[in-house]
Amino acid sequence: MKITFGKIILTDFHIFALRFEFEQEALEKMTFEKNILCIGAGYVGGPTLAMIAYKCPRYKVTVVDINPTRIAQWNSNELPIYEPGLEEIVKTRRGKNLFFSTEIEKGIKEADIIFVSVNTPTKTFGAGAGMAADLQYWEKTARQIRENSESDKIIVEKSTLPVKTALAMKRILTSTDDDIHYHVLSNPEFLAEGTAVRDLENPDRVLIGSSETPGGLKARDELVEIYANWVPEEKIITSNIWSSELSKLVSNAFLAQRISSINAISALCEKTDADIVEVARAVGMDSRLGNKFLNASVGFGGSCFKKDILNLVYLCRYYGLEDVAEYWKGVVNINEYQKERFVLNMLGAMFNTLAGKKICLFGFAFKADTGDTRESPAIFISKRLMEERAELVISDPKALNNAMMDLEGLEGKVSYVEDPYKAAVDCDAIAVMTEWDLYTGLDYEKIYRSMAKPCFVFDGRNVLDHERLFEIGFNVFPIGKPARTHFN
Ligand SMILES: NC(=O)c1ccc[n+]([C@@H]2O[C@H](COP(=O)([O-])OP(=O)(O)OC[C@H]3O[C@@H](n4cnc5c(N)ncnc54)[C@H](O)[C@@H]3O)[C@@H](O)[C@H]2O)c1
Repeated sequence: MKITFGKIILTDFHIFALRFEFEQEALEKMTFEKNILCIGAGYVGGPTLAMIAYKCPRYKVTVVDINPTRIAQWNSNELPIYEPGLEEIVKTRRGKNLFFSTEIEKGIKEADIIFVSVNTPTKTFGAGAGMAADLQYWEKTARQIRENSESDKIIVEKSTLPVKTALAMKRILTSTDDDIHYHVLSNPEFLAEGTAVRDLENPDRVLIGSSETPGGLKARDELVEIYANWVPEEKIITSNIWSSELSKLVSNAFLAQRISSINAISALCEKTDADIVEVARAVGMDSRLGNKFLNASVGFGGSCFKKDILNLVYLCRYYGLEDVAEYWKGVVNINEYQKERFVLNMLGAMFNTLAGKKICLFGFAFKADTGDTRESPAIFISKRLMEERAELVISDPKALNNAMMDLEGLEGKVSYVEDPYKAAVDCDAIAVMTEWDLYTGLDYEKIYRSMAKPCFVFDGRNVLDHERLFEIGFNVFPIGKPARTHFN
């Protein structure tokens, strides 16, 4: 389109630029009720703050990160993480009351409330290496907040942190004698990847821990008010700040413990011809136990379970509770055992050698409906299979880029093929690593025809129809159930 004013001709580009400028001006003039900042635009910070922006158009929500690539992705059509429903929410609010930026200092200056959602991985060096939480990113953020604040702030710990971290945060923030007041709240995030949007929209509970001082309670009420925009009152619970910090670690420890419990029993089922699915059903119908998190599998993954349990173990040891530490360490030990057991079962079933055999991994993400591969059992299994000199073909609908990064530089043959039919061609075995729905609906007769014989399926998630696969001709090895083979 061209618009002509006398000698001035406005092209599409000019019109777009003018509109952009008008919109920016309008936005700057618009007054929001609250200015909310989130430091850390990861799997937690991005979706959580997008939900706040979506539910509360009266608040200005800015998410900042030191990683410019991540911010550019949040501002593009290809978001940095895959979560069902997330794209729609981000696109609805982005540029209106939801902003992604690298201007951390500006964000801090303008904010009334700051969520801290930076990563807190397991420490890899010095005291507590391999156990304690690495708090360097978190501490850097605390200092940055102190250095750039010009007004009172409420600081919300979103990251999962060791109990008592809020005390350290407060000490850093108040270590200069300016007149700024900070109130630190603990508000751990309980979302699960793959269902983040659903969990954020309809959480089981929102937990807010605060100090019991008048200022602490006032800050707590302000955060309650934000969530009350969409979360029912009875689901917003408050506690003292240490209980809140500890509850997140304990919650993850209990979830992981349940997986390790059923996985431990799956090993016993394989020795005794009991069937883990039948056992889990019988156990789960006890209303005291419930039926969730009772699926035996190749092991748990994800960025949190292992690191949070190790952090809990470290804390117990720090406080001299060696027996308690050992109890929780067992949950991680069983998970490692389960992954190794899976590889050894493959090796045993395939005549004690995998050298030169082609194995197709169905799935690489640590669970379905996410592209996240952090601590995915598939990483461990891939490395071990490559040590056995197997050739790998990795297939996953969302996680291939991450898989490539995870396995980069490893010695051995590995290829990445998104289409599971093409991935399985000429392979000796399929190993299901992720419970993507996609894998249950495939034409396994077609797959069988394209594979090398004898064909094996190792179902690390117990999601396939084992009887049907056996009838087609596969030798089938589920978890915690009798194998179905065509050998005498
Ligand atoms: N991923 C989950 O499912 C989940 C669920 C609940 C809680 N948590 C906890 O939430 C926290 C964040 O986890 P995540 O999965 O979102 O991590 P992530 O690695 O995806 O994101 C963290 C982000 O923080 C940024 N960052 C680090 N230091 C920074 C700084 N100084 N300034 C600005 N940005 C900085 C990083 O660049 C990164 O983008 C962790 O403590 C984790 O344990 C995670």
